[in-house]
Amino acid sequence: MLSLPPLLSSVVKGPALLPIIQADTSEEAVAIAKALADGGIGSVEVVLRTRQALAAISAIRAELPELLVGAGTVLSADDANACKDAGAQFLVSPASTPKLLEAMIATGLPLAPGVATPSEIALAYEYGLREVKFFPAHLSGGIEMLKALSGVFQQVRFCPTGGIGQHNLADFLALPNVFVAGGSWLTPATLVKNKQWQQISELAAAATAIARQLKSAA
Ligand code: 3PG
Repeated sequence: MLSLPPLLSSVVKGPALLPIIQADTSEEAVAIAKALADGGIGSVEVVLRTRQALAAISAIRAELPELLVGAGTVLSADDANACKDAGAQFLVSPASTPKLLEAMIATGLPLAPGVATPSEIALAYEYGLREVKFFPAHLSGGIEMLKALSGVFQQVRFCPTGGIGQHNLADFLALPNVFVAGGSWLTPATLVKNKQWQQISELAAAATAIARQLKSAA
């Protein structure tokens, strides 16, 4: 049995929010991360969806050491190891397979592997994991599904992502089995493209206010 990394919930910094950073350059990634931090965010997830994602993780770690920096869209053992080498402090995946779970656990980093069904939760549970990402949250049953899952998976807590925004953030965070909420609504591509950092800080501040009301800060 692989020994388990610390829980992601035990290392998340700041409000219970995990905004996604998707950047074309590491400079852009640092600018996004700074704007989020100015809005009160303490933890970010850099997604492996651009060529510079790994460099972005390293750059944010170097420039903004007060932030917790994780990697998202981890799809393989190679991804998991490359993220660790780049300095990622936690791992998030959109899916769960035995190979991927084993590789992510083996890094020793806190993790939130993606699940959308009871069987996927059960797979993660068999590995001893008690925190998972619920993705895509809105298309997989959203709030009602999380409520239904709470009855049978009483020890499992979720990071919902997919379709979360200012309009429904409070509803997700109010659920006792949700420990953090993630997504891209704080870093819209148009604001990033136009370098509207102040607006990103304002979105982050609005979400931070909601999160602080509903979940005590780490
Ligand atoms: C993710 O990677 O978690 C999702 O792409 C986030 O979904 P969103 O863009 O709807 O927030």
